[in-house]
Amino acid sequence: MKRFVAAFLFCVAAIATAQDLRPAFLLTGAASREGQDLSGQWTYSKDLYRTGLNDINGWVAKSRMQRYRDIDVAALEARGGTDFFEFDMDRSAQMTIPGAWNAATPELRYYDGLVWFQRKFTARPPQGGRSFLRFEAVNYRAHVYLNGKEVGKHEGGFTPFVLEVTEALRTGDNRLTVGVDSTHDAQSIPTFITDWDLYGGITRPVRLVHTPATFIDDAMLTLQPDGCIAGEVVLQGAAVAGQKITVAIGTLATAAATTDAKGRATFAIPAPATLERWSPEHPKLYDVRFSAAGDTVRDRIGLRTIAVKGSQILLNGQPVFLRGISLHEEEFGANPARNMTEQAARALLGEIKHGLHGNYVRLSHYPHSETTIRLADEMGLLVWSEIPVYWTVDWENPEVLRKALAMQAETIYRDRNRASVVLWSVGNETPVSAARTAFHGAMADNVRALDPTRLVTAALLVERHKTDGEDVTAIRDPLVDKLDVLAVNTYAGWYGNDTLAALPGLQWQVPADRPLILSEFGADALAGYRHDGMKKFTEEYQAAYYRSTLAMAEKIPTLRGLSPWILKDFRSPRREHPVFQNGWNRKGLLSETGVRKEAFGVLADYYRRKADR
Ligand code: GCU
Repeated sequence: MKRFVAAFLFCVAAIATAQDLRPAFLLTGAASREGQDLSGQWTYSKDLYRTGLNDINGWVAKSRMQRYRDIDVAALEARGGTDFFEFDMDRSAQMTIPGAWNAATPELRYYDGLVWFQRKFTARPPQGGRSFLRFEAVNYRAHVYLNGKEVGKHEGGFTPFVLEVTEALRTGDNRLTVGVDSTHDAQSIPTFITDWDLYGGITRPVRLVHTPATFIDDAMLTLQPDGCIAGEVVLQGAAVAGQKITVAIGTLATAAATTDAKGRATFAIPAPATLERWSPEHPKLYDVRFSAAGDTVRDRIGLRTIAVKGSQILLNGQPVFLRGISLHEEEFGANPARNMTEQAARALLGEIKHGLHGNYVRLSHYPHSETTIRLADEMGLLVWSEIPVYWTVDWENPEVLRKALAMQAETIYRDRNRASVVLWSVGNETPVSAARTAFHGAMADNVRALDPTRLVTAALLVERHKTDGEDVTAIRDPLVDKLDVLAVNTYAGWYGNDTLAALPGLQWQVPADRPLILSEFGADALAGYRHDGMKKFTEEYQAAYYRSTLAMAEKIPTLRGLSPWILKDFRSPRREHPVFQNGWNRKGLLSETGVRKEAFGVLADYYRRKADR
């Protein structure tokens, strides 16, 4: 008994308090709550000159252009009079939501600006309860109105946000209008400079969610490094203090606690010996039920630990090698709309898990959909997650840093229960400067405050120099001191003038006491294009590039993972060679329609051998 008490007391101290970048509402487990999926046909209206938001000289928009008004334009026009309108959301064209407008019609293929969307729906809000709209992602800014009233805004194209609509929601018919502005600028994250497509719009599901007056807003469960199962539950509402919370972890164990004056309860129990830890080989998920104040939230949660020890990455205390690939959020097909359904995500992750014998995926360069992350939990793939602090942002602007920290918080609070997520990356290929390193350092500190159970990394640039006549590839980035796992993007043999024959002989100079991931390497190949003589853009060249790069990688003693660039060809307006690219980045191991290239087999064989070791 004494041992149990000692373990229990030790555990109680283990749970950390997250720094308060917590969004106003989280609605963890929203998918399991009573509500209404608002996916489907929405009408839309282009507004390139933003007349629905503001008028010339920045005045308030003319009412005849305010798309969000709660009016029946046709009926008002039928009445006659002096009023007239320069929009009508009811008679506008329709678009399937979720999905980016760039794939919806040719006229919107490269549209980059403001589009208004509207969906009418009938609601039956619960008596005495509360109602919320939860958007899983809108790219890039959202202006949300319900029945003509502004209910909130959000900036950031890849993270969820929750708006309370208890006051604005009607029993019966409702009119939801969302102004989506896809434009990016020098202060957005990312800026307007990327290597992926625009994909503006309501790109992930929208849900109307009802809760009791006092409800569970957040519920987290994790396996601590010290062997405790710990977590927290946060209530919101009128009666949050002194509430008993119970947590049932399948049939494995239960925990209980009482909320404090702010409605927050933490708990920690020694992990039973019967605990089945989550791993790629055994992706065990427990059905967890959090209950408090008459409310219940359910989630499927895997329990595992991740750590670094010297140059090893330890999963559940055992060294692991990350056999992975990088992935953009873009479904297979010739005209992707960034509509990541479960079927679309399963097709992509299946190629990694079963095609490549992988156990890991780098979800680049922004937080991917919950659908994808939950599938990684279910299928058993470790995940690298990042926000799009990519190439460059306005490093010296405090407002931009605040946005980045908030975007990290929105991602971390969303994914804290996802066993697959093991790495939070704080940047991709950003040029070294004092301001940039300070910016990333603040992001790394933010991750550790919000989520001390996962590892911090970043995809760094390598530096090439000559030492004693030797061509050396080195990591000389002051940011390394803030990272648990080092990662570098290297393209020798594609960009630059290295021959493939030279790659295996390249010397690497890396810190000996840190794990290293090659977070990117890759070469373009047009599927089906073959030509003797190893020409770039052929499948043969890409396959030979992989063989040479893997031979080079094998010689790096601290190498603990690979996520080559990239699983499939993806849309990028930067890539316009009229024969080989036509707006597609062709570094995929599969074409955009899912045709495997020769290099796919090279990596699959390499990972199969790795897995058997
Ligand atoms: C960079 C970048 C990728 C880009 C790739 C490429 O490493 O991180 O986003 O697509 O190179 O050049 O194809």
